[in-house]
Amino acid sequence: MPRKLAAGNWKMNGTQADLAELAAMAEASDAEGPEVLICPPATLITAAAQAAPAMAIGGQDCHAEPKGAFTGDLSAAQLIDAGATYVILGHSERRDAYEEGSDDVRAKARAAQSAGLTAVICLGESETEREANNTLDIISGQLAGSVPDAATPENTVIAYEPVWAIGTGKVPSLEQIAEVHDFMREKLSQRFGEEAAKNMRLLYGGSVKASNAEGIFAIENVDGALVGGASLKAADFTPIIKALA
Ligand code: G3P
Repeated sequence: MPRKLAAGNWKMNGTQADLAELAAMAEASDAEGPEVLICPPATLITAAAQAAPAMAIGGQDCHAEPKGAFTGDLSAAQLIDAGATYVILGHSERRDAYEEGSDDVRAKARAAQSAGLTAVICLGESETEREANNTLDIISGQLAGSVPDAATPENTVIAYEPVWAIGTGKVPSLEQIAEVHDFMREKLSQRFGEEAAKNMRLLYGGSVKASNAEGIFAIENVDGALVGGASLKAADFTPIIKALA
């Protein structure tokens, strides 16, 4: 069984004043329990890594190239230099707003993994795709297209985030989550072998809160969560970490 992972994506939220929340969250992290990861805005990575050494810190995106004329972007090596060990890639907000396709995500994931980061690769269907009964086709395509051939349980985490569940308070039924996670495990097993697939962590993301975490974490192929809004405050995130313990 892989070590469970409670991951928080702060998106474009947080300033120095919010580092106190990290210190409070760190109290809920210990070597026996789930791994805790926070991905703050890049401006806070170094300070976050210093404020919460018991927790892992990650970026929210990186460029596929190692350096160059890419104003505003960050390379995987720069994230590592700042103190990150993880990076979120292919979040639906980036697939949407920046038109990132699975090829772009795979190129970024390759760059991240070769530099030494663990890539948290996000995928998920839209509401229209779910209603058209296309969920598993979408997941299959995004999984095949976004995950590099060199993926291992150490350098890759997969996050299933149905787009319609992000920030909406709507959550798929436990059966729907289980169906997608079982499907992803099977697809990974066909591609990377049973042993690697079993140890690759599969997170669920989309309106996870303390009140629904326990039910979601009881699903067999759910190894943790990627949490947005409820990861900003220790009072909201700590019960989610505890539900995973
Ligand atoms: O990456 C996490 C995310 O998109 C889910 O956000 O606010 O629905 O937990 P939220």
